[in-house]
This record gives sequence, structure tokens and C-alpha cells, in this order.
Amino acid sequence: MASQTDIDYSYTTMDKIWRISVGEMADFTGAKYDGDFSISLEEAQRRKHDFIAQNLNITAGSKVLDMGCGWGPFLNYLRGIKAKGIGLTLSKGQHAACQRQGFEVYIQDCRTVKPSDYGMFDAVASVGAFEHFCSVEDYQAGRQDEVYRKFFKTVSDLLPVGGRCFIQTMVFGKDMIDLKDFDIDAPKESNEYLMALTMNEFPGSWLPYGKEQIIKNAEPFFDVVTYHSGRLDYIETINVWRQRLKSFGWQKYLAYLTLAPALLYDSKMRNRLSNLQIAPIRVAFERQLWDHYRLVFEKK
Ligand SMILES: C[S@@+](CC[C@H](N)C(=O)[O-])C[C@H]1O[C@@H](n2cnc3c(N)ncnc32)[C@H](O)[C@@H]1O
Repeated sequence: MASQTDIDYSYTTMDKIWRISVGEMADFTGAKYDGDFSISLEEAQRRKHDFIAQNLNITAGSKVLDMGCGWGPFLNYLRGIKAKGIGLTLSKGQHAACQRQGFEVYIQDCRTVKPSDYGMFDAVASVGAFEHFCSVEDYQAGRQDEVYRKFFKTVSDLLPVGGRCFIQTMVFGKDMIDLKDFDIDAPKESNEYLMALTMNEFPGSWLPYGKEQIIKNAEPFFDVVTYHSGRLDYIETINVWRQRLKSFGWQKYLAYLTLAPALLYDSKMRNRLSNLQIAPIRVAFERQLWDHYRLVFEKK
């Protein structure tokens, strides 16, 4: 699994800049445009929340666990429909942001939650955290399936029979290259360089190989109800994020300045600037090195 330091690197360092750019409780994951790019980012995120609630049969009074809750966008949706949400995150910055909004959120590895921690749930949602559950070392040691199987066992223990779980995650796509070929010194337009940049943005994380690897490891505990790719929707989400990150604002530009010292002594941070220029994740989606899935499961 990505360590807490890795997660803080990915999510806490740029936390303030993101919140100023996209909103205090914004989603930090692909929105659900369903191919209709005339709607706003916020409408598309709302569509995603509606989809999750409908497919998990969440109504007023439902008790829902949000595994990897970010700044609390889905917890906020749950509050709006009078359901009870509990969120888990590994990012200190996100935890602090959620506490400011009055959400019930804990810093805890969601892969280890037990019924004795917060009781049983009517539904479990995890939007954009599954990406971080398997580390590169787990993958290299041949433990990736085991990591996912254990995760689904954890979720299954928290739900009654017939209870549902939603997973949204990036996955490796049909044209993914081998880890041994990743190379930060390769030509800038190459897949080898691109993939090295993604490791820079999400250190310690290794993606599942397609929806198939997820479904296979859920299978001992869950039936799959429905799934679809959100790859093109994610490309649009990243396009809108980039416009908002660049648009001028004094507060935001001052927040960028606070990163200047780190740029002097931290080569990883300098590489991250390349990430801002190139948007490797968007290009990975465009080249189908990566794909993106939303899946609904029902406990057997
Ligand atoms: C891309 S953000 C998504 C946040 C939110 N769900 C959203 O849609 O905006 C990924 C989140 O997963 C969390 N995360 C990753 N691995 C985790 C783990 N093992 N346990 C708890 N949270 C985890 C991170 O802390 C972060 O909050």
C-alpha cells in the first residue's frame, strides 16, 4: 500500500492550491459527464454522487462508509440527503479540511476497518482510493491479488448480505507498458517517460490490471452488479482542473509561492512541475495506457 508519507506527498503538499482552485469540498476524482461535456464539472460530479447513492440504495438514515473521503464531497452529498456518512483518509491535510466542515472523519487505513471500529454499514463507497491499495513492492512480490482479495473481505465483513459497495478507480489499460521500462530520462514524448512521471505524482501506488483483476478478487464475496469505463470523462475532468489551477487568483498564486523552497532542494518537486506541464495522467488515458472504471458490487 502507499504509505501515509506517500499519500501526504500526493494529497497534502498541494492541498491548499487545489482547494482554492476547485472548491473547499470538491471531488478530487473523475466526474461523470456520460460523454456530455456541455455540463459543468460540478453537475458532472453531482451525477456521480447520484449514481452512487441510487446504485447503493442509499436513502435518508442510511449509514455509509466513505473509504478515502478526500475533502468530503460525498460526505457532503450524504449530509444533503440526510444519510449518515463516516469518512476515512490517510491525508492529514484532507482530514483537517473535513473536520472544518464538521464531518465525522478519521485518519485510518480503510483496508483494516473492522465492524468493532464503527459498527456495520448499509453501504460502502470508495471513490479514487483503490489506486493506492497495492504498492509497487506488493506487485513485484506477486501480492497484488492478495491485497485486493483482503480488501474485499474487509468490505464484506462490514456489510449485510445484499449490501452494496461502489468502487471507482483508475486501472491499467490495454496498452500499458512494463514497470522495468519506466524511465525518467527517456524522450519526453515517450510512454516510458510518461509512466515515470506518474510514479512521481503517486509514489508507492500500483494500479489494478483492468476491471478484470478487481472483479476476480471481489468474486469470493461479491457479485458484480454493473460497471462502465469513465476514461473519457476523466480526460474532461482533468482539462477543467487544469484551467482552474492556472486561472489567476492572488490567494492561489501566494500558495504556489510557498512551494518555492521545496523546488530548490527537492528534485521530486521539480519533476512535479513537469507533471503540471504535461498532465501525464491525462495523456495516459488518451493513449489507453490507463483506463478508469466505476463498479457496483453486491454482497453474496
Ligand atoms: C484521489 S483522492 C479521492 C478523494 C475523494 N474520494 C474524492 O472523490 O474526491 C484518494 C483518497 O484516498 C485516500 N486513501 C488512499 N489509500 C487509503 C487507505 N489505505 N486508507 C484510507 N484512505 C486512503 C487518500 O487519503 C485520499 O483521501
